[in-house]
Amino acid sequence: MTQSQELPTLAAEKLDLERGERLLFTGLEFTARAGTLVRLAGANGTGKTSLLRLLTGLMAPDSGRVLYKGRDIARLKEDYHKDMLYIGHMNGVKDDLSALENVRVASRMGNIIVTDEQIMQALGHVGLTDFADHLTGELSQGQRRRVALARLFVSSSKPVWILDEPFVALDVASVANLAATVAEHVARGGIVIYTTHQECDTGVPEEHRMTVDVSQFAPRKKKVCARGGEHV
Ligand SMILES: Nc1ncnc2c1ncn2[C@@H]1O[C@H](COP(=O)(O)OP(=O)(O)OP(=O)(O)O)[C@@H](O)[C@H]1O
Ligand SMILES: [Mg+2]
Repeated sequence: MTQSQELPTLAAEKLDLERGERLLFTGLEFTARAGTLVRLAGANGTGKTSLLRLLTGLMAPDSGRVLYKGRDIARLKEDYHKDMLYIGHMNGVKDDLSALENVRVASRMGNIIVTDEQIMQALGHVGLTDFADHLTGELSQGQRRRVALARLFVSSSKPVWILDEPFVALDVASVANLAATVAEHVARGGIVIYTTHQECDTGVPEEHRMTVDVSQFAPRKKKVCARGGEHV
C-alpha cells in the first residue's frame, strides 16, 4: 500500500508543546506501528487537536520530534505529506465549491490522482450521490462533514490518516460506515490517529488499538492547600 515497501511507523518522541503561554503537555511519547488505531483522549483544551497538528507537521513542537518510519517529519516534509491524510474538525471544505469539486481539489492537493467516477463512488460511500453537484455551503453540517470524509475513500494509498473528531455531526449509519472504513484501513496496515469524545466500537481488534491520554502528559500542577502551603 505504501509507495515504498517499508512498513509505516509513526512515533512521538518526548514532545513538549506550549500554546498561549501555557505548557499543554511535556514528554509526550507513543509509537504506532503499521496496522494501529490510536485514539487521543483527554478533556476539552488538553491539547488533542494541537497534538494532531504536530503529527501532521503543520505545527512544530517546542521540543521533541515526530518520526515517520524512523525519520523526522520536519526533514521529510513532502515525503511525509504524500503518505498522510489530515481531516481537521473544521471540515476543510470550501462552501463555494460543489461536493464533487471539493473532493477533487482536496485530492489534487494531497497528490492523489482520481477520476470523477472514483469521486462519485466516494460520495456514494458517504450517501451524497444526490448532492454531488450541490454547493457545499448549502449542505447541512453533517453533510459537510461527510464531504470531508469522502476523501477517505480515495485515500487508501496513504498509510497515515489523522482525523480530528471524525464522528461529530454524523448520523448513526454514517458513524458505523466511518468506523468500518477506519477498521479496513487498519487491517490493511494503515495507521489511523483520531480524537473523539464519543465511545465508538470501531471493530478494530484490541491488539491493534491504543489510547494516548494527552492529559497524562500535562505538567504537574502545584496544589495549594488550605493553610497556604504548597504540595507538588
Ligand atoms: N491558535 C491558538 N493560539 C493560542 N492558543 C491556542 C490556539 N489554539 C488552541 N489554543 C489553546 O491550546 C489549548 C489546547 O487546545 P486544543 O484545541 O489542542 O485542545 P483539544 O484537546 O483539542 O480540545 P477539544 O476537546 O475542545 O477539541 C487550549 O487551551 C487552547 O486555548
Ligand atoms: Mg480539539
